Amino acid sequence: MTTATSFWLGTSWKMTKTLGEAGAYADELRSAVEAGNVPPELRLFVLPATTSLATVHDRLDGSGVTLGAQNAHPGPDGAVTGEVSMSMVRDAGASLVEIGHAERRTLLGETDDMVADKVAAAVSAGLTPLVCVGETAAERARGETPGVLAHQVRAALGRLGRDRPSELMVAYEPHWAIGSEGRPATPTEVSEGLAVVRRALDEDLMGTPTSVLYGGSVHAGNAADLVTGLDVDGLFVGRAAWTAPGLLDLAHRCTDALRRRRPRRRTTPDLVSAIVRKDPR
Ligand code: 13P
Repeated sequence: MTTATSFWLGTSWKMTKTLGEAGAYADELRSAVEAGNVPPELRLFVLPATTSLATVHDRLDGSGVTLGAQNAHPGPDGAVTGEVSMSMVRDAGASLVEIGHAERRTLLGETDDMVADKVAAAVSAGLTPLVCVGETAAERARGETPGVLAHQVRAALGRLGRDRPSELMVAYEPHWAIGSEGRPATPTEVSEGLAVVRRALDEDLMGTPTSVLYGGSVHAGNAADLVTGLDVDGLFVGRAAWTAPGLLDLAHRCTDALRRRRPRRRTTPDLVSAIVRKDPR
């Protein structure tokens, strides 16, 4: 696996924001970028609801903020009522697409098979896949975390064929850490999860620049510790970045933390094996 170099900070707006609210957020973000208030080492991304993609694209075009969709259907354009295709979200301005978020897996029955189809379709459409993987609380309690994560990563990439993404993003998002009922993961829990994800990626993806992010109850109080303490290439935020000032505040905290960060030491294969032995599937 080739690690991408800059640090990602982004947010999914999930099922929030009218067109007016989305446009106002985008305008505020654009003004901050143009005023030089977003440090250059950060790559910001925003995933609006599909209804706001085109509006947000118009407002942020040329600002350097990456725009993505929260989901898209893997099939070609055609008779699939209620869905939008990869090429349609690309046309609306998305350059990345989130696939396999915990809420889609648990509330909407998105399976590893569907995730694999979507990843392959995203790559064919020229979109960067942002694949979310994570274990449920029950899987963690049964000691299945490493096996579940490794399986989800391999399954997600399993239909790529000869098409390789020019860039890949994978977010480790334990289901139990997400949302208002979530418990923020401890740095040790995050770091063990990230190590398993990286190992599974190493086996599967030679040479594709890949960023491994963490998401789940990231907020102003824990962002800096996550950046300094972990081998992580970015943070993926929900609620704490649903306002532009929230995202900008996190941007400053992450940048300060990045400047204090010691050169990163990759978790060694021995440590990963120890984690997997301790917690077999
Ligand atoms: P919260 O930050 O609201 O827990 O959501 C995280 C998330 O789901 C990012 O994809």
